[in-house]
Amino acid sequence: MRIKYIAGNWKMHKTVTETVSLARVLAGELASCKHKIMIAPPFTALAVAAKALEGTSILLGAQNMSDQEQGAHTGEVSVLMLKDLGVKAVILGHSERRIIYGEKDDFINRKVKLALAHGLEVVLCVGETLQEREAGKQDGVVSSQTEKGLSGISEKDLLRVTIAYEPVWAIGTGKNATGQDADAIHAVIRAQVKKLYSQAAADAMIIQYGGSVKPENAKELLTMPNIDGALVGGAALKAETFAPIALFDK
Ligand code: PGA
Repeated sequence: MRIKYIAGNWKMHKTVTETVSLARVLAGELASCKHKIMIAPPFTALAVAAKALEGTSILLGAQNMSDQEQGAHTGEVSVLMLKDLGVKAVILGHSERRIIYGEKDDFINRKVKLALAHGLEVVLCVGETLQEREAGKQDGVVSSQTEKGLSGISEKDLLRVTIAYEPVWAIGTGKNATGQDADAIHAVIRAQVKKLYSQAAADAMIIQYGGSVKPENAKELLTMPNIDGALVGGAALKAETFAPIALFDK
């Protein structure tokens, strides 16, 4: 049985003060949560978030990192710096990084390899745009992003990778994929993991759904056989909306 893994991607929201207060409330409300939980505040608030989460089982995540360990890379943040702050996981290949900042699969793959080499967990995001979906290309797009993102990753290291299926047309739009539609793509991703690795790797792979997840649709999505969790954006910014998703029970 795969565990459920709910992650909150705070994107470019929350000051240091706001982070401390939300992290503290979540730490309290999710104290007895039986699912794996991660929150990813912005870089500037990671240090205070780490302190606020001390002694809890909520994992601290970052939203991105450099593909290089260190050096002359103005404005970038290294895996070493993240680890130093107590970060345990990193979201890579988010569609906002791919689309707004032009990140390509090979660049994302370098980050995945670097994060894993340094012992972090990775949430690798894949997903098709509206145009790709309308052209019926979604299966090919997510299969290709999965293959390229995981290139050179051993089956052992794969155990620290979660895949987040986030259809771009569902992110921040209020339009979530239906449970059935999302589950079908999750099955495609799982089949790709089987092809690239093994049946055991496919069975173990945690695949989150992301895109307008909210308390009202969490149950429909999270009870699907291939949906093992959620990567939550907007609804992760308030305890009133994140906690009910995180505390989801069948
Ligand atoms: P959303 O964002 O929940 O606001 O749609 C999800 C994400 O981009 O990770």
